[in-house]
Amino acid sequence: MNLSRLAATMLIGSTSLLLACADLHHHEHEQQQNAFFTPGLGEIMAQTAARHTKLWFAGQERNWELAAYEIDELHEGFADAGKYHPTHKEIKQPIPELIARYMDKPLAGIEQAIKDKNLQGFIDNYNGLTAACNTCHQSTAFGFNVVVQPNFNPFANQAFGSGN
Ligand code: HEC
Repeated sequence: MNLSRLAATMLIGSTSLLLACADLHHHEHEQQQNAFFTPGLGEIMAQTAARHTKLWFAGQERNWELAAYEIDELHEGFADAGKYHPTHKEIKQPIPELIARYMDKPLAGIEQAIKDKNLQGFIDNYNGLTAACNTCHQSTAFGFNVVVQPNFNPFANQAFGSGN
């Protein structure tokens, strides 16, 4: 191997080492961010409330695809609530247990109504869901957070009609 070739090989070697270090550093940084960012239960609930509103307007427009999507988002939010907040300093029962007790049935009812494209079934189960949100709030000393059926749509930048 001549000298310039050797130098080139060393250069490539050290560059890839540097890149590997940068990558490792990036990875560590990402892990740290994940470890530090934990949404509060109140944050997750605020998101849940937004989805609860969007779900209503999607249903009213018979936009079943969007309604099904909002149900999935609600499930994900509740899964996060249980994962990041398995317990709460002011609540005796484990959060995932409460969620299963109050949310599973009304969410499944809405899912069935969406599958059947049944607007009345959707409305009935939606009212059941809203009542169950409040039952959980009451049973956890957060009864002052009262959820209601939305009477106007604050999401001006999203289309709720299915376009058909
Ligand atoms: C585990 C039982 C439980 C269920 C089920 C539940 N919540 Fe909550 N919710 C809470 C608790 C606890 C808080 C207070 C959290 C905190 O701030 O620490 C809360 C807070 C809230 C808040 C106040 C957040 C804010 O920023 O103003 C809203 C709105 C809310 N929930 C909406 C809902 C909706 C809508 C549903 C149903 C789709 C629901 N919640 C279901 C327990 C529950």
